[in-house]
Amino acid sequence: MAVELVTLDIDGHAVGVPAGTSVMRAAALAGINIPKLCATDSLQPFGSCRLCLVEIDGRRGYPASCTTPVEQGMTVRTQSPRLQQLRQGVMELYISDHPLDCLTCPANGDCELQDMAGVTGLREVRYGYQGAHHLDLAKDESNPYFSFDSAKCIVCNRCVRACEETQGTFALTIAGRGFESRVAAGQSEPFMQSECVSCGACVQACPTATLQEKTVIRLGQGEHSINTTCAYCGVGCSLNAEMKGSEVVRMVPARDGKANEGHACVKGRFAWGYATHKDRILKPMIRARITDPWREVSWDEALDHAASEFKRIQAAHGVDAIGGIVSSRCTNEEGYLVQKLVRAAFGNNNVDTCARVCHSPTGYGLKQTLGESAGTQSFKSVERCDVVLVIGANPTDGHPVFASRLKKRLRQGARLIVIDPRRIDLVETAHVRADVHLQLRPGTNVAVLSAMAHVIVTEGLLATDFIAARCEERAFEQWRDFAARPDNAPEALEAVTGVAAPLLRAAARLYATGGNAAIYYGLGVTEHAQGSTAVMAIANLAMATGNVGREGVGVNPLRGQNNVQGSCDIGSFPHELPGYRHVADATVRGAFEQAWGVPLQAEPGLRIPNMFEAALDGSFLGLYCQGEDIVQSDPNTRHVTAALQAMECVVVQDIFLNETAKFAHVLLPGSSFLEKDGTFTNAERRISRVRKVMAPRAGYADWEVTVQLSKHLGYPMDYRHPSEIMDEIARLTPTFAGVSYARLDALGSIQWPCTADAPEGTPTMHVDEFVRGKGRFIITQYVGTSEKVTRKYPLILTTGRILSQYNVGAQTRRTDNVQWHDEDRLEIHPHDAQERGIADGDWVGIASRAGETVLRALVTERMQPGVVYTTFHFPESGANVITTENSDWATNCPEYKVTAVQVLPVSQPSAWQQAYQRFSAAQARLADAGA
Ligand code: SF4
Ligand code: SF4
Ligand code: SF4
Ligand code: FES
Repeated sequence: MAVELVTLDIDGHAVGVPAGTSVMRAAALAGINIPKLCATDSLQPFGSCRLCLVEIDGRRGYPASCTTPVEQGMTVRTQSPRLQQLRQGVMELYISDHPLDCLTCPANGDCELQDMAGVTGLREVRYGYQGAHHLDLAKDESNPYFSFDSAKCIVCNRCVRACEETQGTFALTIAGRGFESRVAAGQSEPFMQSECVSCGACVQACPTATLQEKTVIRLGQGEHSINTTCAYCGVGCSLNAEMKGSEVVRMVPARDGKANEGHACVKGRFAWGYATHKDRILKPMIRARITDPWREVSWDEALDHAASEFKRIQAAHGVDAIGGIVSSRCTNEEGYLVQKLVRAAFGNNNVDTCARVCHSPTGYGLKQTLGESAGTQSFKSVERCDVVLVIGANPTDGHPVFASRLKKRLRQGARLIVIDPRRIDLVETAHVRADVHLQLRPGTNVAVLSAMAHVIVTEGLLATDFIAARCEERAFEQWRDFAARPDNAPEALEAVTGVAAPLLRAAARLYATGGNAAIYYGLGVTEHAQGSTAVMAIANLAMATGNVGREGVGVNPLRGQNNVQGSCDIGSFPHELPGYRHVADATVRGAFEQAWGVPLQAEPGLRIPNMFEAALDGSFLGLYCQGEDIVQSDPNTRHVTAALQAMECVVVQDIFLNETAKFAHVLLPGSSFLEKDGTFTNAERRISRVRKVMAPRAGYADWEVTVQLSKHLGYPMDYRHPSEIMDEIARLTPTFAGVSYARLDALGSIQWPCTADAPEGTPTMHVDEFVRGKGRFIITQYVGTSEKVTRKYPLILTTGRILSQYNVGAQTRRTDNVQWHDEDRLEIHPHDAQERGIADGDWVGIASRAGETVLRALVTERMQPGVVYTTFHFPESGANVITTENSDWATNCPEYKVTAVQVLPVSQPSAWQQAYQRFSAAQARLADAGA
């Protein structure tokens, strides 16, 4: 669409800008800065401070340049004696009601009020300095990360608008009128008691020290800044670490970060203090048995011991008796090295990643249908959506910055379908309300998706031209006939899904006919016995309605951890070399054999659950586990710990003595994301740089430890910097061919595929044709899980996470984020609670076929009757003591989301919890004894 250009004169300069641009913005583009206080680039103009007044020929008065749009032929003056006088008058009023403690103010040198006093040439304040309106207001120190000093507030409204426009929480208002106006959180309550979610957008927007990070108050402002990428969720926010020497002062979301556009959440912006927490493991340690005290040793001794143990095990039990697990929290380069170590130095394919337990069905399902194991869009694409279908995801908690971008689009009028067993926040939150909420029974995603397909097929809502041009004809016809079967009708499946047929029909019609429709999904889709089937059913729906291959549509997996996408891309699965190429492919394998100088096995290796089985069988005895806490995060904890206890050498590389480390024989200190260089790949395939802002606290970055271990095993790797690892990935992986650190530095980030045809990356996939050529519809027959409710286990437990905590909580539990969530609770519907005599806050025992644990109850109508829910952020909760080993038929992704349980009041911790407490205390003593 052609943009209409408008030409105007500003202070004698001819300026051409798009129609609709404000005079202030046009002036800025011409290099002329008009004084301002209430305006900022990232928020809508507000026009309250009156500092940006200008003179415009032919206009009466002095219009505010921030709210005045340009007009063709306009002549604007931004400086004149009269304007100077008016601006000084405005500043006089502000300063008369502002504390004059500039020299001791934390914003000194970084304060727009101070700047404007200088710019306007304010030299005296005729009204005195005793403005009685704000000066004596008390500070609100309730938030652990920022303070609110109302005495310094100039009521510019930037914080209020940031909370509304950027974050979408609407926690702030301006209370009172005129000189009595002041910013208020919630119902004029402390921030921590209001609905504020501590995203920090208001703090960033505040031009004064009113809202200020406590770290800045304590440490002063940073003296240099380094751009890096958040190490928490799959949004992958770009952050500028503002530093004082090697100490982080604050994290400021990067305005030019394409994943976050200047925003962040309470984790990325504030919860980085774990990196310097006293619990960090800083010295390598070894022990012969897990009942022995740890012994601190040199890096050389620890690596030598690990290598000789691995060699001993292989000599005695065969080459396949050891393997490696790498976390999706690690960088691409670290993941690549671990799989290379396993394949080239261990000589087998026994490597897996924690993506196994979250998004492996995404990799499988999207590859089968669309041809590539990745999401199809950029986050920015949501701005072009007309209909958004969110299934099995809770973005406001799990992917908060994407949720803010999504909510912004919803407030503009996009329609929303939520498919989730719980009444998640998106169903009804400030100025957002789902058009349809399908509150299905856990485990019935495939039935719901098949029923939607049925409506689309039988009501003539198919995108027939798209299907004819872009999809395999025969596969489509088979799928169409399957979907049309009467047993897939919403009415026929009502009893199974628990969803009223008319609601389901409404959802299907809206998705198929509402314009650009996009599906966003999360672990509520993948972590099921039919996880892969559900992913394929989602892809089927998108193809059937022509919602693939352009902006505003697509299939978008919301990846849980920061580098789930990347860890899958770079070959961390036992059956795939980097770029999702099967180990059995002789050509691909040959390329790696040549580059690595060793023969590679053609048979897939063991997946994580197979490693546990093999350990219990006595055929798998050594494990190298980098950055992953399998004891807390994998299902059926007792099974996992039994497997670890059956192994002879467990090597854990982590920043903390995590739950898995309690079963380890070698502990190699890890490095946090602040201590190393590398890259993460977020949910939109965006590769972003992680940059070292401080030296590795234990001496080595994680990639260096893997290189050292490989050398001790007799397979030297020769890298001087992670950029060389990326160069090797790019040489050997066609979809990464154009990726290099130099190009990442130049472009900021790159969405793969990045090839000669797409040297700057690929924001939208499958544009003219699917990666696999023609899209393939796949029949997705619903099969109920074997995890049935019975009289003994009448409720279904489903699990998830909460905004302030992150996965196993090893990082966030060691920050002030615990002030929002310091224990896992069991959410239960009032009917189920009442039936069992359970009141809010009571201790309840949760028993499944796998085990039993005890939590406190949270009675809430967010749940539907018959379904209970908990998070899994605290090890002592034992959430995974009760989850079972059921898993996805195609990928073994655990069925975390469906466990049949009974819930009853109890008065003491479960037997497992008591044993856990004893074991943990003993392990802490063994660690102390060695230190
Ligand atoms: S921290 Fe975020 S949620 Fe809280 S008031 Fe500020 S902008 Fe709103
Ligand atoms: S708290 Fe800051 S951003 Fe909010 S109105 Fe006051 S000065 Fe403006
Ligand atoms: S946790 Fe996710 S949303 Fe929050 S700052 Fe980090 S990447 Fe962004
Ligand atoms: S900046 Fe324009 S009125 Fe405040």
